[in-house]
Amino acid sequence: MTQIFKIAIIGAGMAGLSAASALTQAGHNVVLFDKSRGSGGRMSTKRTESGDLDMGAQYFTARDNHFRNALQTWIANGWVTEWTPRLFIRNEGELVESPDDQQRYVGSPRMTSLSRGLLEGLELVGQTRIQSLEHNDDNSWGLKDETGTVHGPFDRVVVATPAPQAVPLLAASGHLEQATAQVEMQPGWTLALAFAEPLDTAVEACFVRVGALDWISRNSSKPGRQGLDTWVLQSNPRWAMGNLDTDKAEVSRQLLAEFADALSINIPVPVYQHAHRWLYARSEGACNWGALAAPEKGLYVCGDWCLGGRLENAWLSGQQAAQTLMERK
Ligand code: FAD
Ligand code: NAI
Repeated sequence: MTQIFKIAIIGAGMAGLSAASALTQAGHNVVLFDKSRGSGGRMSTKRTESGDLDMGAQYFTARDNHFRNALQTWIANGWVTEWTPRLFIRNEGELVESPDDQQRYVGSPRMTSLSRGLLEGLELVGQTRIQSLEHNDDNSWGLKDETGTVHGPFDRVVVATPAPQAVPLLAASGHLEQATAQVEMQPGWTLALAFAEPLDTAVEACFVRVGALDWISRNSSKPGRQGLDTWVLQSNPRWAMGNLDTDKAEVSRQLLAEFADALSINIPVPVYQHAHRWLYARSEGACNWGALAAPEKGLYVCGDWCLGGRLENAWLSGQQAAQTLMERK
């Protein structure tokens, strides 16, 4: 008979949810822990009276066949739908339409509809930051949170956080700790905006190649979004690095000016604005690791950074961690 494990997963973003789904389907008892109240991680949505604004992942693409199969289920469940924005590119001196055949998907009616859907039937312990892992003599694990409470015991642990946040949790395995510590992640600033009247532009999404921004989207052009004309701007990592400690009002002022430049229109005063700093937005380069494991200890690591910073890769990394764990009883 297959042995049933009690498994802790630290991080309820796409990678953790993916691992949790696979392990639960195989009959294991899984508990997710996250420092935030809910699930989703960098696939996050800010809910406001002006509308819901996707602050992290803006959309996703699907290239791997396993991921495409999962996507079909999510679409059938009504969690995800296709988004076909009018796409532009902003180069030095010109803003031009840049259509393509790429299929792009979004959570519906908000990005977190996907994480919420994936969480159905799973156990999440929210608002619990895990500070260290205790490896017991009987090879079981305890998870110590920042209040000093120890959760467990668990037979297996999957760490599914951004690399810099995983490092302090991997002290029990020198090789996992060292490999993870090599991964650098870059910051980003996101500015969410709402306007009383729709802006006078055909742009629904724009890749930006000049200045501080690298992405602009008309959030309200995504399917199912209610409310005002809402927009999301994302800085490039270089600009974010130079503005890590700039206060939010100044970040908003500068990014609004960049927005007006990029679209070459006058931008009225927004009725809502919210700036958010991501310390660990994206990993530099791709490792192609799939997931990391110290099977003799029952410790596994996954996250988008194991394959390169995209939602699809986070899901694939979570699947890989679950597979590796189940192969080694
Ligand atoms: P995360 O989503 O970061 O999940 C990790 C979780 O761990 C978090 O919920 C965090 O709260 C929790 N955590 C961390 N430390 C602890 C701890 N000590 N204890 C408990 N919990 C902890 N991808 C795309 O495909 N398309 C896009 O358009 C796109 N745009 C993006 C825009 C931005 C601004 C950002 C930041 C990312 C974007 N991405 C995009 C990347 C995508 O969001 C990520 O690849 C994906 O969400 C990562 O999932 P993850 O599970 O690996 O990590
Ligand atoms: P994708 O295939 O739509 O885009 C990949 C890249 O190709 C884009 O970043 C863009 O540079 C270019 N591109 C695609 N279509 C284009 C078009 N029509 N015209 C001009 N350039 C085009 O999506 P994929 O590969 O799934 O990537 C996901 C997205 O997530 C990327 O845009 C990436 O920048 C973004 N991302 C953002 C992060 C952040 O912190 N802001 C973190 C991680 C990912």
